[in-house]
Amino acid sequence: WGDEGKGKAPDLLGDQIDYCVRFNGGNNAGHTIVIEDEKYAVHLLPSGVLTPSVTPVIGNGVVIDLGVLFGEIDMLQQRGIDTSRLIVSANAHVIASYHRTIDKVGERFLGKAKIGTTGRGIGPAYSDKMSRVGVRVQDLFDEKILRQKVEGALLPKNQLLVKIYNRAAIDTSAVVTELLEYAERLQPMVQDTSLLLNNALDRGDTVLLEAGQATLLDVDHGTYPFVTSSNATAGGACTGSGIGPTRIERVIAVVKAYTTRVGAGPFPTELEDADGEKLRVIGAEFGTTTGRPRRCGWYDAVIARYAARVNGVTDFVLTKLDVLSDFDTIPVCVGYRLPDGSVIDEMPMTQTDFHHAHPVYEEFPGWREDISEAREFDDLPKNARKYIEALQDMSGAPFSVIGVGPARDQSLL
Ligand code: GDP
Ligand code: IMO
Ligand code: MG
Repeated sequence: WGDEGKGKAPDLLGDQIDYCVRFNGGNNAGHTIVIEDEKYAVHLLPSGVLTPSVTPVIGNGVVIDLGVLFGEIDMLQQRGIDTSRLIVSANAHVIASYHRTIDKVGERFLGKAKIGTTGRGIGPAYSDKMSRVGVRVQDLFDEKILRQKVEGALLPKNQLLVKIYNRAAIDTSAVVTELLEYAERLQPMVQDTSLLLNNALDRGDTVLLEAGQATLLDVDHGTYPFVTSSNATAGGACTGSGIGPTRIERVIAVVKAYTTRVGAGPFPTELEDADGEKLRVIGAEFGTTTGRPRRCGWYDAVIARYAARVNGVTDFVLTKLDVLSDFDTIPVCVGYRLPDGSVIDEMPMTQTDFHHAHPVYEEFPGWREDISEAREFDDLPKNARKYIEALQDMSGAPFSVIGVGPARDQSLL
């Protein structure tokens, strides 16, 4: 459900890759990357922006809040990071102020059924894309077209805002003026990124496609409707970047040694007790984007296996193993008991069953010692190694990296 430490994987791979491409989502994502003593939080920029030899790319599948984009660029530049290599797809969609407004008002109207979105306008921007009334980056360079598109998008929205939501109508000119203010600064970054990336692959360059969110937040494969509005799974990497599936060689999934979720929706291994609070405190599980406390629970091997399947995972990066060092016993979910008494070891077909699924646990003995200084697999205590090996057996793909702390060097390869 996100926040596994995905930002760290592109950072670790930094010197092996030439391009790092965000392919889905927008500034609902929040990746924290720790380099030496410096901590960076990026929401929209690809994590590769922190590696000087990597060209960061925002792909066509991303929705861009331009104020956030330039805010993030300015923040990194002030901290001495060179962002001048950034390339933005001409086909990416733009999040306008009305998308943020509708996201927030829509959630309020859902009441108890709300999704708990980040309020960043993500869903409404993707809705407009699918409804073919979206505004794309390239539209900013044709004022006449931009005005037409914003007008068309606002026509039904203003009816909704005024008549249903009891809000003020939004003025087309104000939106157009705001968007045009970014156009000049944006223009030099904009390219046909599908062409750029395919040419790079033809030359033998290595391209990393970086997801925001997670498998269970994917609009097709996640816990719908408690999901985000894009394809965060591996298939989305192709459509969101303009690279064909035949060119993908490896699918790396980042998974946490326990589970967290922000926002509403089912979560079978959620702990609403002292252990949940302990995971939250030790794991510092508070949202990078909204600051909300994350819901915490044990590792769910059914979900890991499901993720391995729908993404065609070649290998897993297991993060935050160090957070489990303080537990005597560590349960792992190996199946679900459904209300009719049956036990299954795959994701149930329906949401109703998933909502009522009770975890079946297998328990593993803890190791109760600090592992944050470990640098090789063999440095780990025996029980930690056994825990990892058991998870690997259950999760459907080999583990290639184990994280024992937030820093770059706290990774066992
Ligand atoms: P993302 O959204 O998947 O990129 O993850 P977030 O950045 O939202 O949350 C992951 C957090 O875990 C960040 O604060 C990382 O610095 C931190 N982190 C990553 N790997 C490890 C690890 O192996 N151990 C610990 N303790 N923290 C980690
Ligand atoms: P990273 O990339 C965790 C969740 C929100 C909400 C749902 C829909 O840091 O892992 P949205 O604003 O996308 O319409 O909200 O999705 N969500 C995330 N949860 N990590 C994320 O990103 C998330 N991006 C969206 O909390 O439940
Ligand atoms: Mg995050």
